[in-house]
Amino acid sequence: GAGALLDRLGRPLTDLRISVTDRCNFRCRYCMPRELFGADHAFLARSELLTFEEIARLAGVFRRGGVRKLRLTGGEPLLRGGLPDLVAMLAAVGGIEDLAMTSNGVLLPKFAEVLARNGLHRVTVSLDALDEQTFRAMADTPLPLSAVLDGIAAARQAGLGVKVNTVVQRGVNDHQIEDLAAWARGEGVALRFIEYMDVGTTNGWVRDKVVPACEVRARIDALWPLEEVPPGVVGEVATRFRYRDGGGEIGIIASVTKPFCRTCTRARISATGELFTCLFAATGHDLRALVRGGRTDEELHAALARHWGGRADRASELRGEHGLRGPRVEMSYIGG
Ligand code: GTP
Ligand code: 5AD
Ligand code: SF4
Ligand code: SF4
Repeated sequence: GAGALLDRLGRPLTDLRISVTDRCNFRCRYCMPRELFGADHAFLARSELLTFEEIARLAGVFRRGGVRKLRLTGGEPLLRGGLPDLVAMLAAVGGIEDLAMTSNGVLLPKFAEVLARNGLHRVTVSLDALDEQTFRAMADTPLPLSAVLDGIAAARQAGLGVKVNTVVQRGVNDHQIEDLAAWARGEGVALRFIEYMDVGTTNGWVRDKVVPACEVRARIDALWPLEEVPPGVVGEVATRFRYRDGGGEIGIIASVTKPFCRTCTRARISATGELFTCLFAATGHDLRALVRGGRTDEELHAALARHWGGRADRASELRGEHGLRGPRVEMSYIGG
């Protein structure tokens, strides 16, 4: 947008993803494997987390820097106490055209209505399988699949926009592609398949487990012919397809086989207030220290301008055949 900060590759800052907690009530194998995120894992202490006031203040600074889209992430954002209050505070920042949240869905029956009332526009719910066994194996949860489906229903009931994300792993849930597509067509839900990425260093990523977007597309096209839809907005991560029979749309997020760094307009803040200019960055910039160190909004804006201005990240484009190298932040810390 006009006035947005530009990075070294000319990319404007327009989106901010805010992680509000590193905790989750699921233990998805590809994100928080139980061996590493078990009973003795040290989660962040409350005092380390940005307060809602600090988050809202930073949101105002980012808005001035060009941000028009905000997304709350985690871990599971609804585990952060009082989250609907934060939504109200962010809605009050003004100038935010899109206020969204990524969630595993199970707490939506409890919170969807108040979230909508407080100004949330839409939710994206993760759903990796429609059969009980595959679902439980992937999310490593004793909760039934119906807990997620009920959450999706509650969000729709509350008038929130709903998208569903499916991370596809070969040999794990790729047999679910057709069933998920059929379900989404029937329900009229916007479904996106995501190529499994090497986010973090604990999920045992190997390229063989990635099901390329072209394969997902071909398998759905064989059942219900598809045509590609031109991108709606610049920086959209999903390639969109329309069913030729009028059965709606699906998306595929091909960050491994078709990286979209060139149009990447996203900044991320961890729950502790570290600014990451890439999902695959090894380190962040400590904004919390500035906020708690008594800096003015003007000084915070200057720091943001400096960090975004120095940004040259394009990790997905640089990924080799064997994936990324070197240290990088974990998914549950940065929220995807
Ligand atoms: P929309 O605004 O609805 O398009 O949401 P989104 O796709 O930006 O966000 P969502 O949380 O639904 O992310 C979907 C998937 O895309 C997740 O697996 C994210 O980790 C991935 N993703 C989002 N942004 C980026 C990015 O900048 N780089 C990479 N490599 N992956 C991303
Ligand atoms: N690769 C791709 N997507 C992932 N997600 C979590 N871990 C990965 C991964 N390794 C997804 C979640 C959620 C979104 C924010 O990121 O399922 O939908
Ligand atoms: Fe939780 Fe989402 Fe990570 Fe699964 S992918 S463990 S639901 S934060
Ligand atoms: Fe943006 Fe980094 Fe993802 Fe590329 S890899 S799209 S630069 S977050």
